[in-house]
Amino acid sequence: MNTLLKIQTSLSGDASESSRLATRYAEQWLARHPGGRVLTRDLARDPVPHLTAERFAAFAAAPEERTVAQRAIVGESDALIAELQAADVVVLAVPMHNFSVPSTLRAYFDHVARAGITFRYTAAGPEGLLTGKRAVVIVTRGGYYPEGADLQVPYVRQFLGFVGITDVDAVVAEGLAISAESRVAGLERARQAIATLVADPGRTPSRQAAGSTPESVAA
Ligand SMILES: Cc1cc2nc3c(=O)[nH]c(=O)nc-3n(C[C@H](O)[C@H](O)[C@H](O)COP(=O)(O)O)c2cc1C
Repeated sequence: MNTLLKIQTSLSGDASESSRLATRYAEQWLARHPGGRVLTRDLARDPVPHLTAERFAAFAAAPEERTVAQRAIVGESDALIAELQAADVVVLAVPMHNFSVPSTLRAYFDHVARAGITFRYTAAGPEGLLTGKRAVVIVTRGGYYPEGADLQVPYVRQFLGFVGITDVDAVVAEGLAISAESRVAGLERARQAIATLVADPGRTPSRQAAGSTPESVAA
């Protein structure tokens, strides 16, 4: 395991809690993987466009029939996929935006879900092709979202599984806007969860969301 891809989506730049937690994970991972490399893709700074009809048509066109403009569009998607393919570990920093994930992450997913490249349909159903990787989803949010109300972790987990990334852990830092105390406690629980995950990639304790209050474990 020598490449970690850190995907950030916060609007808050260096002040982002989710990005800070993801960077913390990456730094601790790097300490345990000397010679490893960390790549950062910041989808807030460099957003991927929405998947328009024009862009989807470019993906669907036969490679030899693509126009110059379509080849450029597909090239952007190919580069994002190549980055994912090269990663052994993918860390996603995902703040809650209006009860879900940032729209930039949706647009990114729309550009890396490519039939025949990252997944394919078989007689037995869809098969993800990005196998052999693990992912850590680091979620931050202002309020508390108990199981059933969490539209972040299950969604990201489902998408990753669809493209073949099934070894997924989640760290949830929540209650960050409720009070100063809940913010401190939420972040501290998340930091502890990160330390546990980095130290024990086998994760004997649990594959559920770590870092949540007990009543809000949601993965
Ligand atoms: C546009 C926007 C929408 C948000 N929507 C929600 C929400 O629906 N529920 C919630 O609990 N927090 C919401 N928040 C608060 C963030 O999830 C919270 O501040 C989180 O810690 C931000 O992480 P970050 O510092 O990495 O950006 C929202 C924040 C922003 C900027």
